[in-house]
Amino acid sequence: MKPIQVGLLGAGTVGSGTFKVLQRNQEEIKRRAGRGIEITMVADLDTTRAQAVAGEGVQVVNDARAVIANPDIDIVIELIGGYGIARQLVLEAIAAGKHVVTANKALLAVHGTEIFAAAHAKGVMVAFEAAVAGGIPIIKALREGLTANSIQWIAGIINGTTNFILSEMRDKGLDFETVLKEAQRLGYAEADPTFDIEGVDAAHKVTLMSAIAFGTAVQFDKAHVEGITKLAAQDIKYAEQLGYRIKLLGITKRKANGIELRVHPSLVPSKRLLANVEGAMNAVVVNGDAVGTTLYYGKGAGSEPTASAVIADLVDITRLHTADAAHRVPHLAFHPHAMSDLEILPMREVVTSYYLRMRVADEAGVLAKVTGLLATAGISIDAVLQREADEVGGEGSTQTDVIILTHDVREGTLDDAMAQLQALPTVLAPIVRLRKEELS
Ligand code: HSE
Repeated sequence: MKPIQVGLLGAGTVGSGTFKVLQRNQEEIKRRAGRGIEITMVADLDTTRAQAVAGEGVQVVNDARAVIANPDIDIVIELIGGYGIARQLVLEAIAAGKHVVTANKALLAVHGTEIFAAAHAKGVMVAFEAAVAGGIPIIKALREGLTANSIQWIAGIINGTTNFILSEMRDKGLDFETVLKEAQRLGYAEADPTFDIEGVDAAHKVTLMSAIAFGTAVQFDKAHVEGITKLAAQDIKYAEQLGYRIKLLGITKRKANGIELRVHPSLVPSKRLLANVEGAMNAVVVNGDAVGTTLYYGKGAGSEPTASAVIADLVDITRLHTADAAHRVPHLAFHPHAMSDLEILPMREVVTSYYLRMRVADEAGVLAKVTGLLATAGISIDAVLQREADEVGGEGSTQTDVIILTHDVREGTLDDAMAQLQALPTVLAPIVRLRKEELS
């Protein structure tokens, strides 16, 4: 059978990896897919670079629409990124009857509903394994491997840049700004790292996982997004002393009244595998009612790891494209007519546990006042750590840090209690609050 023909939009790092891996493993990939897979046309504004990536014999153009218009192309790979022209081109490729493979988490998290509806109407597939956690086959696992389960929760380290920064902050006791500069110098962080450090990239990814896990629409606009820019080295140190590490987690949970969807720094018990994922690596923990807790670990970015996911999608499409659309795996795991209307919960309804750091006057009765106020609010304390005043503020200091870990409480209740704590005259600085996930 003649090879399936693929057009590539964007010949950057992942495009280059896709060429290399397809070339290197072509025989095995063909034996798995049932026929050859060939990228026969590439569009990139830098045609010289693209020709160098694609090699001789591949048609290179600077106009993506020429690829979409080519009737011989069966699948279009979109590796341009962003929500602008990429959205337009993906919609045009779908309208032209092409299957689409994309690594574009931002596009699908924001415009997924429109794109999946267009693909469904046209009877084509939009595959996006590479959009979440790079080379880790987490979409496949959620959508197919765990299909027997009622998925209860997902928690993931799904941004390598921030995990690298947090690992360095902990290892070297350095503050965020210093480590960010070093990460940029080493090429671990982009020149403009905003999406990574503000948690937006992780929120795009957890939004997609949440939709697949619970069969809801893709709702990035309802996700709570908090990055690591305000995280102090001091809190990483105190968390360590209490037996926790701080990770930027993407979390989604099924609750009786809705779904939690949030990205923020979280304390995780040091003994959990997730707490020991270091450097730029990614890991996702999924809890299903039948299987229990499962863990997926690997490289979340990079040329060949991401190409591994892109090619897995190419193979899937090659195997399935002749099947009638109703017998393919649905884009979001559930058939479009059977989606759930569970709401994303506001943060005040989220239930989790907390780390509070308070700078207080080191005098009699302060701790009693703080714990008394929490008790009145019905907030149960799990652990308390009080530092020596001298250690915190230098010799003769009259201030100290009190760190409190709570048991689970509704965030709205905690917020109200914190406002009262903050108003105490003996609480001398803004209280630092971090969320904590036991992941048990
Ligand atoms: N910038 C992302 C990360 C990789 O640091 O993990 C692409 O999503």
